[in-house]
Amino acid sequence: MITGGAKRVGRAIASRLARAGFDILITYRSSGAEAGSLAAELIADGAYCHTLMVDLEKPQAVTQIVDWTSSICSQLDVLVNNASIYLPDKADERNTLLRRHHRVNLEVPLELVYGLSSLLRAARGHVINMTDLLAIRPMPSYSIYSTSKAALLNATFSLARELAPEVTVNAISPGVIDWPDDLPLEQREEYLLKVPLRRAGTPQDAANLVHFLVTEGTYITGQNILLDGGRSLI
Ligand SMILES: NC(=O)c1ccc[n+]([C@@H]2O[C@H](COP(=O)([O-])OP(=O)(O)OC[C@H]3O[C@@H](n4cnc5c(N)ncnc54)[C@H](OP(=O)(O)O)[C@@H]3O)[C@@H](O)[C@H]2O)c1
Repeated sequence: MITGGAKRVGRAIASRLARAGFDILITYRSSGAEAGSLAAELIADGAYCHTLMVDLEKPQAVTQIVDWTSSICSQLDVLVNNASIYLPDKADERNTLLRRHHRVNLEVPLELVYGLSSLLRAARGHVINMTDLLAIRPMPSYSIYSTSKAALLNATFSLARELAPEVTVNAISPGVIDWPDDLPLEQREEYLLKVPLRRAGTPQDAANLVHFLVTEGTYITGQNILLDGGRSLI
């Protein structure tokens, strides 16, 4: 199960896991066409893929996802809390931004883990929380977003203890693995000067890491894995 799985990083994770033989459930909000094309692609390749449209800001969202998942499967191997809001701070919208980021980037991921924990335990499954390098190296103009990801990262550590020994819980904290569409070229180049590997990561890098954590890396839990080309070293 991958939240926000229709596009970009979530889509790469869904495709990678489908290729490895996992049955796929994704949620989406506005990307209905992309969700449909992904499902068609995966099904054509012999995989199983179901999609659910849900707005995570709505109060009934988690119940909707948990009921939907429980009606399809009796156990859940993987939950990737991928869906996210990423908006810059604005002084005159601070309360709304705080509430929205808190809801989508923290509250929903936590509630999903709790709501799906019996299915995850039944599968001896794995939770991956997509956090951000900004959780430990916050950016002033994105302090609300950074704080929401820091909270999710912190929750990863406690959840790992809470859900052990049956379920592993880890965080992946990317630097840039898929540029925001509107980021100008010169800002991209400036960022890359501070990345020792001198390139942005890719959605595929995240997908390969998720695949590793849920197949080979099953003795790893409660970890924050920085997927940042070394950006955090500088
Ligand atoms: N891209 C990067 O370089 C980067 C860097 C650091 C961290 N990360 C983290 O890695 C993850 C994936 O990154 P990304 O860039 O692919 O994410 P993204 O494009 O910003 O967001 C992923 C999906 O979240 C869904 N979403 C947002 N608000 C929602 C809501 N209210 N209800 C339901 N779905 C909602 C959207 O679904 P719809 O399109 O269907 O509306 C969107 O496609 C995120 O958690 C992000 O914070 C990414």
